Amino acid sequence: MKDAITIRNLTHAYGEKTVLKGINLCIPEGQKVGIVGESGSGKSTLIKLIAGLYRVQNGELTVNGDTAVVMQSLSLFPLTIRENITCGHNIPEERIALAVKTAQLEDWLSTLPDGLETFTGERGGQVSGGQAQRISIARAIAKDAPILILDEATSALDVKTADRLMTSLSAWWKDRTVITIAHRPEALSYCDVIYRLEDGVLHE
Ligand SMILES: Nc1ncnc2c1ncn2[C@@H]1O[C@H](COP(=O)(O)OP(=O)(O)OP(=O)(O)O)[C@@H](O)[C@H]1O
Ligand SMILES: [Mg+2]
Repeated sequence: MKDAITIRNLTHAYGEKTVLKGINLCIPEGQKVGIVGESGSGKSTLIKLIAGLYRVQNGELTVNGDTAVVMQSLSLFPLTIRENITCGHNIPEERIALAVKTAQLEDWLSTLPDGLETFTGERGGQVSGGQAQRISIARAIAKDAPILILDEATSALDVKTADRLMTSLSAWWKDRTVITIAHRPEALSYCDVIYRLEDGVLHE
């Protein structure tokens, strides 16, 4: 099978501080990968490189296909929930509905008089952290990319909602390649392989 992501001897430094020290990682298409590691170990740095948000300084990084990323420090646009999900793209209504359902937004949306047309406020200030996370997950689903990356994407949700979301999400992602960063082991129960990032090096 083809690799979705190939990483060879990847290093990354912020100024003098080297955070990733020679990462090697091959992710076959369709594999579900978990990444754990202490706070500050470089997990978010690694996925930002994979998502193309940082330039590769040293080493090799190949990503075959578009990525949809739910960032750890996410931010919403001061627009409606619908616009935050579509990001201005012309997305079919069924796909938006599927994204809303999969991201466990339905119950909350049904309580809002304006539903999907509800304004989220400046920096998403009119929605809770957990609602903002679910909107971001719906955005990633609606993007329909072959590679999905979740960086602590359910950290603000209660355990019950997070588990429901992971169940619906794992039914949706099927053959897609998925990278999940999480501290709760339950969030990683769908992974085929789990790597630990420690002192800038990745261990299986
Ligand atoms: N933009 C930046 N500029 C300078 N240093 C940074 C920057 N982003 C991250 N760092 C540093 O790089 C290290 C790794 O950060 P990173 O966010 O990748 O860790 P993490 O494993 O995702 O941590 P957490 O579990 O807390 O999210 C940390 O020591 C952090 O202080
Ligand atoms: Mg992080």
